[in-house]
Amino acid sequence: MTGPAAPWALLAELTHACPLHCPYCSNPLELVRRSTELAADEWARVFTEAADLGIVQAHISGGEPLLRSDLEQIVAAAHHAGVYTQLVTSGLALTADRLGALVGAGLNSVQLSVQDADRKNSDLIAGRTSFAAKERAAGIIRATGLPFGLNVVLHRHNLDRLAQIIELGESWGADRIELANTQFYGWALRNREALLPSKEQLDRAKRTVADHRAKSRGPELVWVLPDYYEGVPKPCMGGWGARSITVAPDGTALPCPAAYAMTDLRPPNVRDHSLAWIWQRSEAFDAYRGTEWMSGPCSECPRRETDFGGCRCQAFALTGDASRTDPACALSPDHHLVRDRAALAGGEAGTAPDFVYRRPGGARRATADQEG
Ligand code: SF4
Ligand code: FES
Repeated sequence: MTGPAAPWALLAELTHACPLHCPYCSNPLELVRRSTELAADEWARVFTEAADLGIVQAHISGGEPLLRSDLEQIVAAAHHAGVYTQLVTSGLALTADRLGALVGAGLNSVQLSVQDADRKNSDLIAGRTSFAAKERAAGIIRATGLPFGLNVVLHRHNLDRLAQIIELGESWGADRIELANTQFYGWALRNREALLPSKEQLDRAKRTVADHRAKSRGPELVWVLPDYYEGVPKPCMGGWGARSITVAPDGTALPCPAAYAMTDLRPPNVRDHSLAWIWQRSEAFDAYRGTEWMSGPCSECPRRETDFGGCRCQAFALTGDASRTDPACALSPDHHLVRDRAALAGGEAGTAPDFVYRRPGGARRATADQEG
């Protein structure tokens, strides 16, 4: 029987609980309740099935996965299944003992997030005092010798400090810095007016990255493309149902972490089906696979096997129809939805509206909490 090629990555969202409140969070607007989270033995089954399916690496993520008291057990299960693990963490509450236990359980690498090189602004973006804890966490991670990635989501409030952000990553000893321009769905779409940078900010930032790449032997820089100004869509997720599976805290399986928002998708759940069935047989994973579903300019376009029509979540979020061409594409009949918004961005960062912070059960406008 022929079927889709095997996936290679699993995003395991262990919990949506998180001490931070970032206004661009990739979690859904409706966060999954803790009482419905998969137990460690259910995650163990998921990792075994993932390995059988061909998955080689898992991002152990959230929310904040350190809030799971059984995290060591979950990491050990992935390790025993033969899956490479990366802990994706805010670093809050990370101690040397906890990380030592995770390394003992088989953890392979860590990705730490930071919001800005400027302490005050980092705390403001995170919605609470957190920079000092991240600085401590970086030292703890570095001391283990594990591969260490730093992730920074970029937007109008930190792009002008990109050089300092790269220097921060170097001084913290990161092997790799992911410079992730904000992708506008979920919480980020809700905060789009506050977060969207100007074209001039992005042009300066691109030059900064090019300069560092040319002269530095420091950390690898990964530049995640912003798509509002390029006129060319990103090959989102490497294609729908092509490379990875997201499993949400309650077992919902999605072809993309932002696909929660597609109200007509009917995603399967690992509590009801094996990962193999979900990958090979479920409607949700097949819905936008390949190119046959395409209509409009994509169906005849020479780039259709390169960018797969762009981002399905963005098409859904902006047009209400996930099968339309991504409005980020200049050929899309909906391109004005992106172009007109981008034209409005700019001016001084201080003139942007307040953030609507991510919070369970509701949002709150900008004022950072104090560390509790
Ligand atoms: Fe990509 Fe479709 Fe735009 Fe062509 S028309 S560049 S396939 S999004
Ligand atoms: Fe879901 Fe692009 S974010 S397909």
